[in-house]
Amino acid sequence: MTRIRLYINVDHVATVRQARRTVEPDPVEAAALAEAHGADGITVHLREDRRHIQDHDLERLAPRIRTVLNFELATHPEIVALACRLRPYQATLVPERREEVTTEGGLDLVGAGPQLLDTARRLADYGIRVSLFIDPTPDAVRHAAAMQVAAVEFHTGRYAHAWPQAGAALAELEQAVELARSLHLAVHAGHGLTYRNVTPVAAVPGIEELNIGHSIVSRAVMAGMGPAVREMRELVDAARAAI
Ligand code: PXP
Repeated sequence: MTRIRLYINVDHVATVRQARRTVEPDPVEAAALAEAHGADGITVHLREDRRHIQDHDLERLAPRIRTVLNFELATHPEIVALACRLRPYQATLVPERREEVTTEGGLDLVGAGPQLLDTARRLADYGIRVSLFIDPTPDAVRHAAAMQVAAVEFHTGRYAHAWPQAGAALAELEQAVELARSLHLAVHAGHGLTYRNVTPVAAVPGIEELNIGHSIVSRAVMAGMGPAVREMRELVDAARAAI
């Protein structure tokens, strides 16, 4: 069985930084740490509203990456232009709605106008591997195959929300994976995957890449809280001891 690729999404490291518009925590530094500890790739989503990752993050990340960069984007012309200039290994096209908290569903390939296909072709012309973020439905898979992209990423949100009663959602995902593979699409998956619910998805044959962000950043905050407090405790105590 081949090893599944684990791509780490560092968007929410930038979310914490943007809460103060300061320089820490740095998603580029987080990406380097992720790479040093087993990440096969780094995923970032540059949203039109720039709520977390900023353009300068991508400018700094692209040349420093040691694994591969998976650039998530919607079809906004200036962001597509940035992707074409930076030429990440992979671009994952996602839907974006301004009012959403996160990417709440896959791309609507049926209702999508020519802009999506044009963007996918343009990115591919720049040598970028193109993946489409879609719901695990037969219709979406067939439309993605017709667009002749390299890969699809299945939105695992329905599975994650249903967890632990996720049998039906897992079966839907497995069927979509099988159909996609039969149509020669590489298969990725992500969204809402956590330490609790990841195992059945990681065990689906045919899924070659997982994109995971929020749960890992959350775990990192909790795992780091003890040492972080201890370090500050020592600093303030040393200051007092020196009086
Ligand atoms: N894959 C895609 C295409 C996404 O848009 C996101 C969320 O930005 C993820 C994976 C990661 O989702 P999560 O942060 O819930 O792990």
